[in-house]
Amino acid sequence: MRTNSFAGRWLVTGAAGMLGQDVLSVLQRAGIEAVGLRRADLDITDPDAVRAAVEDATVVVNCAAWTDVDGAETAEEAATAVNGTGVRVLAEACAAAHVRLIHVSTDYVLPGDAAEPYREDAGTGPVNAYGRSKLVGEQAVTELLPQDGYVVRTAWLYGEHGPNFVATMLKLAAQRDTLDVVDDQHGQPTWSKALAQHLVELGLAALRGHAMGGIYHGTASGRTTWMGLARETYRLSGLDPERIRPTTSEAFVRPAVRPAFSVLAHDAWKEQAGLEPLPDWREQLAQALATPGFAALAKAARNGRTG
Ligand SMILES: NC(=O)c1ccc[n+]([C@@H]2O[C@H](COP(=O)([O-])OP(=O)(O)OC[C@H]3O[C@@H](n4cnc5c(N)ncnc54)[C@H](OP(=O)(O)O)[C@@H]3O)[C@@H](O)[C@H]2O)c1
Repeated sequence: MRTNSFAGRWLVTGAAGMLGQDVLSVLQRAGIEAVGLRRADLDITDPDAVRAAVEDATVVVNCAAWTDVDGAETAEEAATAVNGTGVRVLAEACAAAHVRLIHVSTDYVLPGDAAEPYREDAGTGPVNAYGRSKLVGEQAVTELLPQDGYVVRTAWLYGEHGPNFVATMLKLAAQRDTLDVVDDQHGQPTWSKALAQHLVELGLAALRGHAMGGIYHGTASGRTTWMGLARETYRLSGLDPERIRPTTSEAFVRPAVRPAFSVLAHDAWKEQAGLEPLPDWREQLAQALATPGFAALAKAARNGRTG
């Protein structure tokens, strides 16, 4: 593999997480020199350690976050220490060292009560503690790095390296005949590998001077509900989609309120960076399910039941 010396040296924080692992593997495949720091290597809330880590990077991709959405309801201060203050620490260090920061955020900063896809400049209004904590982080990046800060909101992520909805549906198929899944929350299921690829393309465009700082929506194109995602997962895995039955959020109460409408528009990719948005969610899901980890889960599900 040839080294892409133009890209310099990238730093990935939260490198042991689901997205962090995919970003690192995309960087390695692209021949870009990259250092992945896990939480034990770099706590993003530690200003001295962050300054030292960021110093000779060209791009930082921040995949570190408090991601326990329900847990944040009773620990908002701790969640904000990472998702808000920790991100501010990173943004300050990047600003001081003139390093570009790609920061991953969430649809949960939005109120989720719209009927049309949210534009990148839509008004924020989180409905839960996790969303509020992530909004503090977004604001730090846009304030401290107006040109060199890239906030990429994602949602409904699934991937090879972490617990996620698609894997859970396949695991449950081996144990239960039918499953009730909510059909009144709308969103864009996004494969973490596809997002990782886009984050790297954005960073390269930034280094070439082709990408403006600001907010980007890193979710798949198209839209569905959790039930739609579960049924398509089953269909593509050779399982009977009718085993998934619709239910409502009211019947499936969780500690943190979930936004009902998490469909995001994707205009900034083209307008601000000359890049295409992520492909349709069905296309991404089909590719993801063909990878060895998901294919093994699907096989076990088919063996567990007749489908
Ligand atoms: N998963 C989704 O559906 C989803 C949806 C919307 C947005 N996002 C965003 O996407 C990004 C990546 O999420 P993910 O799904 O990859 O999450 P993940 O698997 O939970 O990874 C997050 C990583 O951050 C690490 N971390 C936590 N606190 C840290 C700290 N203070 N310093 C350094 N590292 C720390 C975690 O380590 P420990 O495990 O040791 O705590 C974990 O390895 C996050 O910004 C998340 O908010 C995810």
